Amino acid sequence: MAKLQPGAVKQITEICNRYKNEPTPTMMILEDIQNEFGYIPLEVQELVSELTGIPVSEIYGVVTFYSFFSMTPKGKYVIGVCLGTACYVKGSQLVLDKFSEILGIKPGETTADGLFTLDVLRCIGACAIAPAVSINGKVYPQLKVDNVKNVIEEYVAKEA
Ligand code: FES
Repeated sequence: MAKLQPGAVKQITEICNRYKNEPTPTMMILEDIQNEFGYIPLEVQELVSELTGIPVSEIYGVVTFYSFFSMTPKGKYVIGVCLGTACYVKGSQLVLDKFSEILGIKPGETTADGLFTLDVLRCIGACAIAPAVSINGKVYPQLKVDNVKNVIEEYVAKEA
């Protein structure tokens, strides 16, 4: 906890106070922290436990169970490849494998330069344009394996 900045402690305290009258506030608190900070490291979980009385083991269990929560910072660009049924039958596993191969990371990981995180999504409601890939909310329709390199380069070029 010593690593947390005073501003972060203040914000987390405010979030916990927001739900102090809720009978089961764990998910709500963690969702707000995830949205606010982008990840929920162990020292934050310990602070939430201290502030709310919820055991760290329970908080840790929730954070590690739901893929929405992350204990490490996400990359600047979060690539979500849909592996829902419609996308899967249109070859999204191959698209995911290509992203993985080019970026050198597995799903759930972030590149060492902090630029890209690769995630697996379940149906994002874009089945008509399967296979669908979302990058920071922008949806790429019918993304072909051969186009994966171009898509990555589009984002790398933005950083140049
Ligand atoms: S299955 Fe991929 S968008 Fe529906």
